[in-house]
Amino acid sequence: MQFTDLKTQYAALKSSVDARIQRVLDHGQYIMGPEVAELEGALAAFAGAKHCVTVASGTEALLIALMALDLKPGDEVVTTPFTFAATAETIVLAGATPVFVDIEADTCNIDASLIEAGITAKTKAIMPVSLYGQVADMAAINAIAARHGLAVIEDAAQSFGAMYQDRRSCALSTFGATSFFPSKPLGCYGDGGALFTDDAALAQAAREIRVHGQSARYTHTRVGVGGRMDTLQCAVVLAKLERFGWELERRAEIGARYQQLLAGVEQVAVRPDRNSVWAQFTVLVDERAAVQAALKAQGIPTAVHYPLALHRQPAYARFGHADACPVSLRAAERVLSLPMSADLSQADQDRVVAALRQALQ
Ligand SMILES: Cc1ncc(COP(=O)(O)O)c(C=O)c1O
Repeated sequence: MQFTDLKTQYAALKSSVDARIQRVLDHGQYIMGPEVAELEGALAAFAGAKHCVTVASGTEALLIALMALDLKPGDEVVTTPFTFAATAETIVLAGATPVFVDIEADTCNIDASLIEAGITAKTKAIMPVSLYGQVADMAAINAIAARHGLAVIEDAAQSFGAMYQDRRSCALSTFGATSFFPSKPLGCYGDGGALFTDDAALAQAAREIRVHGQSARYTHTRVGVGGRMDTLQCAVVLAKLERFGWELERRAEIGARYQQLLAGVEQVAVRPDRNSVWAQFTVLVDERAAVQAALKAQGIPTAVHYPLALHRQPAYARFGHADACPVSLRAAERVLSLPMSADLSQADQDRVVAALRQALQ
């Protein structure tokens, strides 16, 4: 059993993926070829945002969004420590300081009720993470941002396609930033990502930053990065979009089935006004290492997202006291993600559930 089954997906999409890739090989415009604009149009329409800018990765999407906001050294960005390193990494790379506030124990997303305590005169933005595929409490976060005049960047690396109060992840705030890392709900065959915004000036800034800050060829108006998404990877995502609606339905079914079959086992909760695209299906267990070993012995792969809160990581320890954010510290000890993909069979899912129940006895 694979943790994320990309082989079955490729088998189903082979003719479209191969044809899309062949078309790029035939026209040869490997950088900024026609598939780039085609994908940006399709993704903006899907997400319901006015502008989409594809970029080299989810990390680059976050960095470019922060750069477009013109952060200065000393500026602060409020975020969660219970996330992949890229969230805080890009804040530091943009010259700002991450301010960690704790998460909700049940959803593992940032606890909006704690955000205001983290806001100072230096705060410029809030960067919630829509962890495991479920959008954070964006209405509350946007309201706080409006009160304090802050930008909001949704780290939507794991939540592309998710719904929040009838709108889609990535189209809920100043910027939405997603990843097309192969194992993400919508993935390519390498690195890729996208930024979404309704603000034309910010979209233009992001377009310039992605090509070394050029407003015209060899006119470097601002400092940028080499942050384009390859035409070939855009072609792969275009092919994958053909089946994405079906995949979201399958993910919803498989997630609901896990929830039902694992009743009584502590799980990451999903709020009623939103769904999860189940980038991960995650349970919370004690003695996680033993549970993981028991599943591994039965050939069932699992993963931990993430084993350490960022303020416990050497690179980010200076941004928070080691004992801060106790809910994140506890979640980091207990979370365990189970095999999940649109092509997970019922038989495999039953095997995962039986093995987990046995390990928890
Ligand atoms: C929450 C979060 N943020 C950012 C990223 C970075 O995305 P990428 O790997 O495409 O750079 C990831 C991907 O792993 C992620 O899970």
